[in-house]
Amino acid sequence: MTATLPAVGSTASPPSPADNPAGPAIIRGAAALPWVLRYRRDPLECLGAALASHGPLVMFEKFLPGLGDRKYLLAVGEQAHRETLSQPDLFRTGGQVMLGPKGSAHQRIRKGIFAMNWQTHREHRRLLQPPVQKSEVIASVGGMARLIDEVIDRWTPGTEVDMYREMRTLSNWVAASLLFGNDDFESSLAIGAAIEHWLLLDVEARQSPLPFDLPGTAARRLFRQSERLETMMRQLLAVRRGKGGRDLFSVAIEAADKGLMTEQDAIAHAVILYAASFETTANALAWTVFLLSQHPDVARDLSDEVGGVDCWPLSMAEVDAMPLLGAVVREGLRLMPPVAYTVRSPTQAVEFCGFPLHPGTKIFLNHYHTHRDPDVFHDPHRFRPDRWLTSNPGPYQYVPFSAGPRLCMGYLFALTELKMAIARIVQRFRTSVVPGSSIDASVQLTLRPRDGIPMTVHPQDRGYAAVPIRGNVNGMVTFDT
Ligand code: HEM
Repeated sequence: MTATLPAVGSTASPPSPADNPAGPAIIRGAAALPWVLRYRRDPLECLGAALASHGPLVMFEKFLPGLGDRKYLLAVGEQAHRETLSQPDLFRTGGQVMLGPKGSAHQRIRKGIFAMNWQTHREHRRLLQPPVQKSEVIASVGGMARLIDEVIDRWTPGTEVDMYREMRTLSNWVAASLLFGNDDFESSLAIGAAIEHWLLLDVEARQSPLPFDLPGTAARRLFRQSERLETMMRQLLAVRRGKGGRDLFSVAIEAADKGLMTEQDAIAHAVILYAASFETTANALAWTVFLLSQHPDVARDLSDEVGGVDCWPLSMAEVDAMPLLGAVVREGLRLMPPVAYTVRSPTQAVEFCGFPLHPGTKIFLNHYHTHRDPDVFHDPHRFRPDRWLTSNPGPYQYVPFSAGPRLCMGYLFALTELKMAIARIVQRFRTSVVPGSSIDASVQLTLRPRDGIPMTVHPQDRGYAAVPIRGNVNGMVTFDT
C-alpha cells in the first residue's frame, strides 16, 4: 500500500501500520517547524498530510536548539490505540482545555475527570458513574423525548434552519438536564450557557497567535469567564447542597459532602462533563442528519423503520431494536467522529508498537484516520450504514468513544440520545441540505461544521434528494452527487 493521502480527510486509503515496521518516520529540527504551523492552522489536515507522506507513525522532535527535547508522535491504527488506551497507568492524559495561569480559576475548573490519572481517576470515575448507568439512561428517555420534541416543534416546514445550531440547542438542553437536573431547569440552562461560552472562548484562545493573559486577548476573556463560571458554580453548589438529586452535579456534591472528593472537584467535574457531553453530541447529531439527508435511499429505509409521528415516545428497548437506526448512528460516528484524535503521554520509558519511546512524548492517537482503514471498513469514505449489519470491528479499530478503562463514561447516554433524536426527526420531517452550501469541517476541540449546515425542513413526504455541495466535506465523504 502506498502512503498517499491528500489533505484533511482524503478519500484515498491510509497506509497500514504494517507499512512502517522499523518504527516511526522521524522529522527533526527546522523540517519539523512547518508541521507545527500546519497543525495550528488545521489539525486534521496536518494529521492527514503526515500520514500520507510519512506513514502511520510519525515522530516530530528537536524543533529548535534551546527548546528542549519535545517529542510529538502521530499514530494511526489499531495497535497504537490498543497499546495506549488499554494501559492508562502507563499512558497518562493531560486534559482537554488550556492550562491557564498558576492558581487561577481556570486552572482549578479544568481539573475535572479528564485531567485526572491513576488511582484518583479510578475513584472519581466510580463516584460519577450512577447518573450514566443503564438504569438511569432508561429512566431519562422520557425527558429526552420531551426535549427533542420541544426543539423540533419550533421548525416550520418549508423553512431553512442551521442544523448545527439546532442540534447544539438540543444537546445543550439534554446536557443541562443530565448534569444539573430538571427541578430548576432555567438555572440549569443558564449554567449550561455559561459553560458553552467558556468552551468557545477556550477554542478561540488556543487558536489565537497570542494565547496569553494579556489585555484584549481571547485568553484574558477566557480566564475572566472562568472566574465568573466558578462563582456561579459555587452559588449553585450552595443552593443544591443537602437536597439530593440524581443529576451528575448533585451526585458529585454528595460525594464531596461525604469527604470522597473536594467541592472543587465536584465543580470541575460538572463543568468539564457538561462541556464534553454537549459539544460532542451536538456535532454527532448535526453530522448524522447531514449524512442521512445526502443519502436518500438510507433515509427512506430509516423512515420505514422508525414509523410515523404516532410511534412516539419510543422506549430505549424500542430504539435498540431498530437495526438500521443503530447502524446510521454508528456510521455517522465513524465517518465524522466528534473526537477526531486524543492525546496520551508515557509516564516512563516504554516500548510502543515495537520501538522505544521516551517518557513525556505526546502521542496523538488519530481516531479519524483509524476509522478509514480499508482493511477494516470496505469503501471507507462512503456513508454505508449497511456495513454495520454484517460486520463488527474490534474495540480499538472503531473508537468514537475511545476504548479501554477510560472509555467514554457517557457513551450509552449519548448513543441513546442520538438514536432518539434521529428517529424523531425522521418521523416528523424530511431534511435537505440547501443546494450549493459550503460545508466545512474543522477540529476546534471537536470535529465540527465550521460555518454551520444550512438545511430546509419539509413535512415527511419521503422525497429525499442529495444535492451538490461545496466545502472540504467533499474530500472527507464520497457523495454520489
Ligand atoms: C456523541 C457523543 C460523545 C462522544 C463522541 C464522546 C467521546 C469521548 C471520547 C473519545 C472520550 C475519550 C477522551 C480521552 O480519553 O481523551 C470520552 C471521554 C469521556 N466522556 Fe464522552 N463522548 C460523548 C458524550 C458524552 C456524554 C453525553 C457524557 C456524559 C456524561 C460523556 C462523558 C465522558 C467522560 C466522563 C469521559 C472521561 C472518561 C475517563 O477519562 O475516564 N461523554 N468521550
